[in-house]
Amino acid sequence: MKILVIHGPNINILGTREPDTYGVATMSDINSSLQRLAEENKIEIEFFQSNIEGEIVDKIQSAALGVDGIVINPAAYTHTSVAIRDAIAAMKVPTVEVHLSNIHAREEFRHESLTAPVCLGQICGFGANSYILGLEAIINHIEAL
Ligand code: DQA
Repeated sequence: MKILVIHGPNINILGTREPDTYGVATMSDINSSLQRLAEENKIEIEFFQSNIEGEIVDKIQSAALGVDGIVINPAAYTHTSVAIRDAIAAMKVPTVEVHLSNIHAREEFRHESLTAPVCLGQICGFGANSYILGLEAIINHIEAL
């Protein structure tokens, strides 16, 4: 089993970025804990981060060729990107959406996710642990197929 983790814009500056909202874990801390969980489950994992919408679309399109599942934090594109939503819908790779913060408890413009309706589900509000829960969810889903 191979899982792709996609981090959207500004996730590369976690650690120093608004720590009261997003916590102090860096992207590399998050990736290390995901890598450990992947090894425990004997699955392969790949990490990708981009601040550019089209690069995320390209990655989802190419991932469909060799990946069993995706965990994605589309970050700000969650609320704006028809292109990322359409890529997820088109490629039909099972995908779990994750967010560090509880987007439903924040500003109104964050309440809507354009991407969640084409994902298996959304996990938000658990800080860095949202990614761990997301990886567990996608592994369980694929194993049950
Ligand atoms: C985020 C929530 C988004 O609203 C925001 O634009 C982000 C991070 C989160 O993980 O909590 O960049 O996706």
